[in-house]
Amino acid sequence: MRTSLQFLWPQILCFLLFTSQYQVHTKSTIEPCNSSDSCPSLLSYLLPWDSKVSEIATRFHVNFSDILASNSLFPITSSSAHQILRANTLVKIPISCFCVDGIRRSMSTIYTVHAADTLASISEGYGGLVSGEQIKSVNSINATNPLTSGGTLVIPLPCTCFNNVNNGGTAVYMSYVVQRGESLRSIASKFGTTISDLETVNEFWEAAVDPGDILSIPIAACSSATLNWYDESMIVPNGSYTLTATNCIKCSCEPMDITMRCVPSGLDVPCYNLRCKESNLIIGNECVEHSATACNVIQCVYRGHKGGKILSSMKNSSYLKCSGNYADDDPCHSEASCWPLSSYPEDPFGMSPNPSPSLPLPVSQASLRTRASNGRLGQFLINVLPIFLLLKFIL
Ligand SMILES: *[C@@H]1O[C@H](CO)[C@@H](O)[C@H](O)[C@H]1NC(C)=O
Ligand SMILES: *[C@@H]1O[C@H](CO)[C@@H](O)[C@H](O)[C@H]1NC(C)=O
Ligand SMILES: *[C@@H]1O[C@H](CO)[C@@H](O)[C@H](O)[C@H]1NC(C)=O
Ligand SMILES: *[C@@H]1O[C@H](CO)[C@@H](O)[C@H](O)[C@H]1NC(C)=O
Ligand SMILES: *[C@@H]1O[C@H](CO)[C@@H](O)[C@H](O)[C@H]1NC(C)=O
Repeated sequence: MRTSLQFLWPQILCFLLFTSQYQVHTKSTIEPCNSSDSCPSLLSYLLPWDSKVSEIATRFHVNFSDILASNSLFPITSSSAHQILRANTLVKIPISCFCVDGIRRSMSTIYTVHAADTLASISEGYGGLVSGEQIKSVNSINATNPLTSGGTLVIPLPCTCFNNVNNGGTAVYMSYVVQRGESLRSIASKFGTTISDLETVNEFWEAAVDPGDILSIPIAACSSATLNWYDESMIVPNGSYTLTATNCIKCSCEPMDITMRCVPSGLDVPCYNLRCKESNLIIGNECVEHSATACNVIQCVYRGHKGGKILSSMKNSSYLKCSGNYADDDPCHSEASCWPLSSYPEDPFGMSPNPSPSLPLPVSQASLRTRASNGRLGQFLINVLPIFLLLKFIL
């Protein structure tokens, strides 16, 4: 049994969520809790009908840019809010998971009732993540307190935290509504997990799942916990990214080794201090120095933000040898020194260590210089033996 569950009272319960006469009984994983902390979690939402991204955002009370980011949809512009996603698309919705009345759930979604709405139609709009009965019970809907057009309802949504840990690694848990014809095996393969992982997390399940059941699916994630960020922490599920530092920085997981990688977002917002001090490297950039005895990878890494200022520092990792992955046209390949790198081309600021705040870095240029997030470093890191790691903090 998972240690994170060992002390939970009571142990994972099987709840019968749908109790009305027209619904079969379905199961859902419930995580008991007793603290006021929250965690990042996901809902897997099967779109019941064609919807604009902005409509989905309104339905779940989240920002449309966060939906785009959770689904790695790019670019984020105001027009992408009007992008239409087709019915039956599986959309990941990022929500904060709280502890409410002793169990994990999200209560931050508020729905405004329309004239033709019924509890069943509202439930349908949420793709099976919540039943009409649950909406009714949470909002005390009854004969004297009926649905009223223009009134608002709290929509309780299922979520779990499990300390954001799975198999000793960081994980974000996603609530998933089982569809007709699906099995634990097909769901495990769909989300890159295993049947035994699903059985461990959803402890009470007896190998069989039924349509409408809500499973908790662990998604591998990367965490900023070991990165020494100033006053900020973040957990990003594999396959998503997260915007931070007033949308200037976007962080995602390297899919190969599940480490956090942060680069300029490229969004049309003013961003300052995207460049590491005393260097021409921009956050997310890296270069390689070959010496007789080692291969040094120098990176400019994100370190959090403070009062509108983006913090960064140089990170120098030495390896016994370089892999063959670095192309010859790399700006600081071969014997060039990259810190400070006086020969770096197209420096928009000269060598000024503190660019004037009135002169934001042209973001398009910043993102041009940034490797694709599935870049070569991940490959590189597993090809060579790390022998040395030096961090220099510039806070
Ligand atoms: C709260 O839950 C934690 C585990 O989640 C447990 O260790 C602790 O004893 C619980 N505290 C109370 C007061 O129930
Ligand atoms: C959503 O965006 C608004 C402004 O655009 C911001 O104030 C708010 O904090 C954002 N909410 C979340 C959950 O990020
Ligand atoms: C309906 O719910 C309200 C609370 O919202 C409660 O005061 C009232 O007694 C309930 N009426 C019936 C008939 O259950
Ligand atoms: C992360 O996601 C990618 C696809 O986006 C997948 O190939 C990879 O196996 C995933 N990594 C883990 C550890 O789940
Ligand atoms: C990186 O570290 C190595 C090993 O300590 C050192 O030889 C090299 O000069 C460093 N490079 C930079 C740019 O600091």
